[in-house]
Amino acid sequence: MFSISRELKTLLSGSPAVRVVVLTGAGISAESGVPTFRGTDGLWSKFKPEELANVDAFMSNPDLVWSWYQHRREIINKVQPNEGHTSLARMEEKLADFTLITQNVDGLHRRAGSRNVLELHGNILYNKCIKCSKMYQTLPDEEAKSAPVCECGGRIRPDVVWFGEMLPQQILQSAFRAAENAAVFFSIGTSALVHPAASLPVIAKQRGAYLVEINVETTVLTDYADEFLEGPSGEVLPSLMKECGLA
Ligand code: OAD
Repeated sequence: MFSISRELKTLLSGSPAVRVVVLTGAGISAESGVPTFRGTDGLWSKFKPEELANVDAFMSNPDLVWSWYQHRREIINKVQPNEGHTSLARMEEKLADFTLITQNVDGLHRRAGSRNVLELHGNILYNKCIKCSKMYQTLPDEEAKSAPVCECGGRIRPDVVWFGEMLPQQILQSAFRAAENAAVFFSIGTSALVHPAASLPVIAKQRGAYLVEINVETTVLTDYADEFLEGPSGEVLPSLMKECGLA
């Protein structure tokens, strides 16, 4: 059972101008019914990233990769944001200097009402042409089972970051800047294993931030964090909001 320290309560309730930065991972969407990646039931225990989440896989078998992403989209379209997502949307409303960074591609933070979200790994609901980079926010056939073809002749792929690809550089820079200037940094529902996202909490703490981790289990970050709130983010975050006078 988690207990929120007096220090954290003081930091969050002391001034609405406190600089708060949040990094989320797949765990925050787990209570909505979106599978995480690692762990016994994670996506990477059933599927091989090298067969589905890299550009070579897409070039050699675009329809297989496309259908896997269509399957994930179907799951995401059926689920709803949970109280973890809505608490963070509320935090953005309440605090003047708040940055939300996510590794998730499910768009659930925006659906919960968060306005400014730095999506480090892209968004599964959007697509782009592999040849001319034209963006497609909607497709002629949203349920297409095979990878659609752009007017230029290139294949259309999901607008997500695959293994071996660069993250969107402006978004990444904004995330690093926010981490460097944070007074409080939350790492929520992430195994903190995938870089560069995993460096953000470390950088924040090195630059003086109070580092808080929220997770159902310990991670490589836990011993380094100033505070570990053990539990599902959909329960810990609403309590935190209430106890810090932000609800
Ligand atoms: P992981 O699947 O690696 O980690 C999910 C974390 O969420 C684990 O530490 C779980 O213990 C925790 N967790 C599960 N349920 C939770 C809950 N209800 N509340 C709080 N925590 C919970 O997912 P990520 O760390 O997000 O990249 O993975 C990072 C990246 O690896 C992903 O963005 C993806 C993947 O390969 C790309 O696709 C580029």
